[in-house]
Amino acid sequence: MSFSLPDLPFAKDAFGDVISAETFEFHHGKHHKAYVDKTNELLANEAKLAGASLCQVIVAAKDRGNQMLFNNAAQIWNHSFYWQCLSPEEQSPSGKLKKMIADEFGDHETMIQQLADEAVKHFASGWAWLVQDKGVLKITSLHDADTPILHGIEPLLTIDVWEHAYYIDYRNKRPDYINALLNKAVNWEFVAQNLDGKGTARADQAG
Ligand SMILES: [Fe+2]
Repeated sequence: MSFSLPDLPFAKDAFGDVISAETFEFHHGKHHKAYVDKTNELLANEAKLAGASLCQVIVAAKDRGNQMLFNNAAQIWNHSFYWQCLSPEEQSPSGKLKKMIADEFGDHETMIQQLADEAVKHFASGWAWLVQDKGVLKITSLHDADTPILHGIEPLLTIDVWEHAYYIDYRNKRPDYINALLNKAVNWEFVAQNLDGKGTARADQAG
């Protein structure tokens, strides 16, 4: 079995200055690919996981304390989900998602502010998340490769806050990357789709 690097769902140059083609070349073509290659290499020694899906490998690796396999497999999933959260066309939430945001945060701007705050203040590498927890929208962040798959929460939207996500375009200015992404590049249609609780499956792969 082996996992593959999913294609980006847009052209590398589709985001102009918000996220450059060079960033995608490194972030997708080098970093994400390296997680795929390393996971496949590690799985060559894990006969019991033959045929397991990516999500099953992530859970099994955590259960067995195989941190290297967990880190690499979880990063395949996290990045596969992250690309789908991006849209070159500016969008805004509508329908049920818009109402849930209003109910939980008051308005869209307040939710964006809180999510940006979580992403900016997250110490070192990790991911900021908008999730659904028992039908309620929540903002959180997870360290390194940690992923909602392990926490019983449904992923809706993520922002990669590892430096490799923004250093080419924004250098050390994480807040500038976060604000540009949240205001100009979120695929709110994808976020709304994930209210069905199937977000985890949208970045999974068969083994
Ligand atoms: Fe990344």
